[in-house]
Amino acid sequence: MEDLTPRKQDLDPIEIASRDEIEALQFHRMKRSLKHAYENSPFYRKRFIEHDVHPEELKTLADIAKFPFTVKQDLRDTYPFGMFAVPQSKLVRIHGSSGTTGKPTVVGYTAADIDHWANLIARSIRAAGGRPGDILHNAYGYGLFTGGIGAHYGAERLGCTVVPISGGMTERQVTLIHDFKPRIIMVTPSYMLSILDEFRRQGLDPRESSLQVGIFGAEPWTNAMRQEIEEAFDMHAVDIYGLSEVMGPGVAQECVETKDGLHIWEDHFYPEIIDPLTGEVLPDGEMGELVFTTLTKEGLPMVRYRTRDLTRLLPGTARSMRRIEKITGRSDDMIILRGVNVFPTQIEEQILKCKGLAPHFQIELSRSGRMDNMTVCVECTADHADEDARAASAKELAHHIKSIVGVSTRIEVRDPNSVARSEGKAKRVVDNRPKE
Ligand code: DLL
Repeated sequence: MEDLTPRKQDLDPIEIASRDEIEALQFHRMKRSLKHAYENSPFYRKRFIEHDVHPEELKTLADIAKFPFTVKQDLRDTYPFGMFAVPQSKLVRIHGSSGTTGKPTVVGYTAADIDHWANLIARSIRAAGGRPGDILHNAYGYGLFTGGIGAHYGAERLGCTVVPISGGMTERQVTLIHDFKPRIIMVTPSYMLSILDEFRRQGLDPRESSLQVGIFGAEPWTNAMRQEIEEAFDMHAVDIYGLSEVMGPGVAQECVETKDGLHIWEDHFYPEIIDPLTGEVLPDGEMGELVFTTLTKEGLPMVRYRTRDLTRLLPGTARSMRRIEKITGRSDDMIILRGVNVFPTQIEEQILKCKGLAPHFQIELSRSGRMDNMTVCVECTADHADEDARAASAKELAHHIKSIVGVSTRIEVRDPNSVARSEGKAKRVVDNRPKE
């Protein structure tokens, strides 16, 4: 694969500024942002007063720990527009994330917010190895979801030619990749696997495709999956992270030259890692829940938003800004099986070790009596579809999961193309346990 390291002169100067410069900018922006939230968001004014804190008390960046957390429930409680810090007429766009409760969590952006967001996506695409003039196939869903339109604006900002295909209609995705010859694709990693299957179904060699870079995110995926996709397409696969409450995609991005975790764009977002149980701030390097304070958002400033995503903060490498390790999963997706914590990403890693299995899977949880059971439903590859091969694959996978993850599971090796596919975020866990 080609070395796609961007030229230093093409980076935003702040990406490679000194830590002192970055922290000075963060402090200045954090102060302004807290003041904006206090003065213009009735929600935050009330919250701060209840917690007996005032923006003036921020004397150092670490003082942010004095301020209360914000959680998803706050957005639900103030649905739809109750958390905004500008009049609705100043918002140029609304997005939302679907959630499980039916009503979306609503977020809003001013023109300046959209402008920052486009710049950060442009920066992210450049860090991934994209350049002005590239054709970019954008298969993130367009609509209320931030992935499609968010990526679109940034790709245009960088100077790419965007193909706004959105998710779905997989056959057409492959046709357009074949005909338009994009260099870059932006899509969820699980949907990229469906696109891979479709390449093969159409008799096309994915390694011969024009794609050189895939920018994959919106769901957890592993380094093992990176290897799988890079090998299949002969392309670079890098990670993009974000969440609608904080902005959307482009909060953090992996650099193509290092692929060692995602640099947080710290000039716009201040990260903390906390102990999810006590809320205590943990030192860099320790695993915990990622929390963000936005530094420039006008429409919906967020103070210490608890993401539920579990990771660690690491020092900068390719950029001066700190990194997060690839996200293990969300605390909400953690399965506790007979006392052992299990994340779908751990199962993904083990599946990718087994030669006869395809990387499509779902985890089913059930209960018999007082025992919880986990079944991993996974597909065999076409050349390992006979009964003996399936039994061997099942045995191998059960062994890896038992010895590395530490739980006994039932393995169901299904026919190729029989595990539910997603056109966006994959649904990894089906919980059939009776509701308590
Ligand atoms: O998924 C924004 C996005 C779009 C990110 C496209 C990247 C690419 P939400 O729908 O609000 O926003 O979901 C946010 O998705 O809290 C994580 O749990 C998960 N997530 C997003 N990116 C990653 C990633 C978009 N790279 C939630 N790795 C977040 C792991 C991710 N999980």
